[in-house]
Amino acid sequence: MLPHSVLLLLLCVTRLLTPCPALPFEQKGFWDFGMDSDIGELMKMMRDEEEGSAVEELPHPKHESTCPFGCQCHLRVVQCSDCLTAVPYDIPSDTRLLDLQNNYITELRENDFKGLSNLYALVLRNNQISRVHPRAFAPLQRMQKLYFSHNHLTAVPKNLPASLEELRIHDNHIRKVPEGAFGNLRNMNCIEMGGNPLQNSGFEPGAFKGLKLSYLRISEAKLTGVPKDLPESLNELHLDHNQIQAIELEDLSRYRNLYRLGLGFNHIRNIEAGSLHYLPYLRELHLDNNRLNNVPAGLPEMKYLQVVYLHANNISRIDINDFCPLGFGMKRTFYNGISLFSNPINYWEVQPATFRCVSDSLAIQFGNNRK
Ligand SMILES: *[C@@H]1O[C@H](CO)[C@@H](O)[C@H](O)[C@H]1NC(C)=O
Repeated sequence: MLPHSVLLLLLCVTRLLTPCPALPFEQKGFWDFGMDSDIGELMKMMRDEEEGSAVEELPHPKHESTCPFGCQCHLRVVQCSDCLTAVPYDIPSDTRLLDLQNNYITELRENDFKGLSNLYALVLRNNQISRVHPRAFAPLQRMQKLYFSHNHLTAVPKNLPASLEELRIHDNHIRKVPEGAFGNLRNMNCIEMGGNPLQNSGFEPGAFKGLKLSYLRISEAKLTGVPKDLPESLNELHLDHNQIQAIELEDLSRYRNLYRLGLGFNHIRNIEAGSLHYLPYLRELHLDNNRLNNVPAGLPEMKYLQVVYLHANNISRIDINDFCPLGFGMKRTFYNGISLFSNPINYWEVQPATFRCVSDSLAIQFGNNRK
């Protein structure tokens, strides 16, 4: 089954690819939650919105602005992909979406976005930006989405607009996130910052201060443990592809609101009994591709848990009560996905009743791919 996000991404790529040579397009980890994949979706949404509103706005005043050289302008969406080395001048001031991805821009200058107070989304992904003028974003007072992945940033850009809701700065060179790095971004909902060389010590205490995030992804970094100081509001936390060794009792105690937790592709050998009790609302847990020797304790008590990835671990036995509560009196949402393949399990030793709280047998992925 091809995840929806992959389809979206493919659509998006075919639509946006330009003849710019030597395009280092590479997207790792998108399969997971498709963070980069909805730019195409965003465009479609904006076009629909514009096409809808154009009717009411008739007669449409002729825009005095012209489209900058190297760009295509259509319904307040401006796309510039012409191997640009700088942000073009004279971007129409009513632009809502400015797409500068896949260029060779190295710097954002003070006046690059001057007058763009209507901008809703700025797409800078896949450039070579390492310098951002501290006032570069000052005009963008309505900007909600900033896509800044695949650049050369070494720090979170300063002075992001207070209107910002979504920030993608994955695949940059960020090592440190100082206290208050995100300033006073009260509307921020979602940060994708994987693929940066971030260690646990790279997050200063208070790095996320003031943020009420729902989504955070710090995958493909250099974390050796679950960071302690992330926002308590998180519903989704993705820490896949790090070097986390263990989950200790208090590690998750702050993150009671999580629905989804991604810890796949780490080095986890042990999940301390009781750690998962702190996640009463969790629906989806990814622990695949770790070094677990057993099914972590506490799954039966997680009332809403529906999807558990445990494949590619070192689990050699499964007990009858590892997944489901004892007896039938206890109410629990049925699982609809448990993956256990690529573990050294003797399947004939697993009692069928182990999966008495699974929606149907297809929801369990067994199969043994490892000798
Ligand atoms: C897998 O688990 C067994 C014990 O069940 C242990 O002897 C072995 O070293 C483990 N392998 C790895 C790679 O951790």
